[in-house]
Amino acid sequence: MKEEILKIKEDSLVSIKKCQDLKTLNDLKVRYLGKKGELTTVLRGMGKLIPEERPIMGSLVNQVRDELNAKLEEKEKELKNAELLKKLETENIDVTEPSKKVNLGSFHPITQIISEVEEIFLGMGYEIADGPEVEKAIYNFDKLNTPPDHPARDVQDTFYITDDIILRSQTSPVQARVMESKKPPIKIICPGTVYRSDSVDSTHSPVFHQVEGLVIDKNISMTDLKGTLEMFAKKCLGENTKIRFRPHHFPFTEPSAEADVSCFVCGGKGCRVCKQEGWIELLGCGMVHPNVLRNCGIDPEEYSGFAFGFGVERIAMAKFGIEDMRLLFENDIRFLKQF
Ligand code: DAH
Repeated sequence: MKEEILKIKEDSLVSIKKCQDLKTLNDLKVRYLGKKGELTTVLRGMGKLIPEERPIMGSLVNQVRDELNAKLEEKEKELKNAELLKKLETENIDVTEPSKKVNLGSFHPITQIISEVEEIFLGMGYEIADGPEVEKAIYNFDKLNTPPDHPARDVQDTFYITDDIILRSQTSPVQARVMESKKPPIKIICPGTVYRSDSVDSTHSPVFHQVEGLVIDKNISMTDLKGTLEMFAKKCLGENTKIRFRPHHFPFTEPSAEADVSCFVCGGKGCRVCKQEGWIELLGCGMVHPNVLRNCGIDPEEYSGFAFGFGVERIAMAKFGIEDMRLLFENDIRFLKQF
C-alpha cells in the first residue's frame, strides 16, 4: 500500500507541475483528492491491513493529501497570476489616442422662440394651454364667430379631413376650448403647429407655428391688451422696441387690430429686414367678440377679454435674420448648427 500511495504522490506532483490552465488543475484536484479520487480509494482499502499498519498508512495518506493541497493552491495562484498578466498585456488602452468627437445638438430656432415667449408670459402669470391639431371645424370657425361663407373656410385655404374635421388653420380654437373648460379669470397662451393649404415659397409654408393668447376677466379693456403686448414686444425684441396698433378685422374680436413693432434691426430708420418701412407687422389682436364669449358659455355682460395671435416663423426670421422660411423646415445641419 505504501508504494501505491507514493506512486499517487509522484504522479500527481508531476501532473500539477505540468498543468497549464485552471480547468485542468481543477480536474487534477478531483482526480486525486475528490470523493472518488485515487487517494480516497486507497484509504477505503485500509480495512484489509493489519491493525498495527493502519495508523502508519493513515498518517502517510494525510501527509500526502496536505502536500498535494499545498501544491494545488500554489499552482492555482501561479496560473491566476499568469492569466492576469496576459490580460494586462493584451487589453491595454492607449490613453493618447484622440477620442471620438461627440456632436452636441441645439434647439431648433422655432423651439427657441417658443420657449422664450413662454418664459415671458409665464413671468406675467399666464398658463400654457394646448389643443388638438386635428380639430373640429366648429372650434376652428363657428364658435369663433366665423360665418359659413367666410373665405378662410374655403378648401383652398384649409385642409379638410371630413366636412366637420380639419387640420386647425390657427391656434385660435384653443381659445374656445379653454373658455369651455374653465371659468374666468383666464390667462393663457397656446403655442402650436397650424396648417394651411399654401404653396411653399420664401415666406409661406403649409405647416407653421403660432402663439395664441387669451385673457378673460371682469373689466378687461383695450388698455390691458396694449400694455400687455407692449411689454411682450420689449421683452422679446429689445427694450427700445415701440409698438403701434392699426385697425383691422377678425371675426372673433371687436374691435380688432394689427400690431406692428419698430424694426429692431435698424430701430425704425429703414433696412432690409423691415423692407425700408421701419416697422414690422407682428400680430393680430382685439377684444374678444361678445358672440364668442356667449358661444363658449361666458356671459359678456359680466366678463370681457382680449386675445392675440402671432406667427412664430416671422419672429424667428426677423430675430435671426433668416431670409427664406424654407430653411426652417429643410433641417440642413449646416444651417441649424448656427443657432
Ligand atoms: N388667428 C389669427 C390668424 O391666424 C390671428 C389672431 C388675430 C388671433 C386676432 C387672435 C386675434 O387671437 O385676436 O390670422
